[in-house]
Amino acid sequence: VVKLGRLLINNPIIASSGALGFGRGYVWERPLIFAGFIRPIELGAVITKTLTANRCVGNWRGWNPWQVLWPIRQGWVNALGITNRGLEWFISHEYPQVYRQNLIVSITDPDPLQIVKMVERLNSLDVLAVEINLSCPNTLGWIDLQRSPEVISEIFKQASLVSGHPLIAKIGYLAVPERERLSDALSRTNLDAIDMINSMPYQQLYPTTHSPLKYGGGVSGRQIRSYALEQVSWFAKHLEIPIIGGGGVSSINDVHEFLQAGAQAVSIGSAHILKPWISTKLVKRWQGELEKIIETQEPINP
Ligand SMILES: Cc1cc2nc3c(=O)[nH]c(=O)nc-3n(C[C@H](O)[C@H](O)[C@H](O)COP(=O)(O)O)c2cc1C
Repeated sequence: VVKLGRLLINNPIIASSGALGFGRGYVWERPLIFAGFIRPIELGAVITKTLTANRCVGNWRGWNPWQVLWPIRQGWVNALGITNRGLEWFISHEYPQVYRQNLIVSITDPDPLQIVKMVERLNSLDVLAVEINLSCPNTLGWIDLQRSPEVISEIFKQASLVSGHPLIAKIGYLAVPERERLSDALSRTNLDAIDMINSMPYQQLYPTTHSPLKYGGGVSGRQIRSYALEQVSWFAKHLEIPIIGGGGVSSINDVHEFLQAGAQAVSIGSAHILKPWISTKLVKRWQGELEKIIETQEPINP
């Protein structure tokens, strides 16, 4: 069992937001779930794609997925934005059909007050935790929450007053002075875990080249792994809040690397695009390793 503040999960492998749709997989993943190749229930947790209070169109245009998702060397650029039909749609249409035992609901909103209201509304759901996404790189014109420490302190102060669930903050890659301001704000909240890193804005990673997507977008996958590892170890040293670490994880060695860097659990996102069963496979590898350790341990003499 892995402990993330008040949140207890069975193993440290988590499908990150955007990997398995709103909890029951994207349309193309559902047959694989049905056939047992993806087993969401066996994962430590499944984080839903981020929901807003009301419907949000984002950048997704159903007829052309390549406008919002593009492969680059060892990674992806995505500019999906927070495309979703709103929290009430999730509650009435998706929630009744998902495995609730290990579900974490990811939320955000351009209006911080709405975030607190959503946290309260989620009390009626039987889910593991609520993740507040402070870091979507594809929401132009929205308040940049992770760079607004006073707003964050206030959101979490209000949210923890009304929430019946453990609370997680999802952040992106930040420069050291920004990390210091953020960790100062987070240390004054009673947050259960921090999830990092979100996909990195294309221009932050490659300031001198143009993004292949017209919306700019965020880079995920192996290209951001070293940034993620460095930030995880920084936060592990500077803040006493459990960490869900991820960015470019696609193998059991990557999982170990993030745990060694100071994370308590590890999240897997875009590796699902080509291998939707990847997190299920990693749980199997993780359990296999545990069994081996138990087998090789000396029996205790009575
Ligand atoms: C297609 C796609 C959609 C995503 N949607 C969300 C989202 O709605 N909310 C969120 O917090 N992160 C979202 N992410 C970011 C991932 O959860 C993850 O933090 C990021 O991609 C880095 O991990 P990775 O390199 O394993 O993909 C998305 C990523 C991808 C590739």
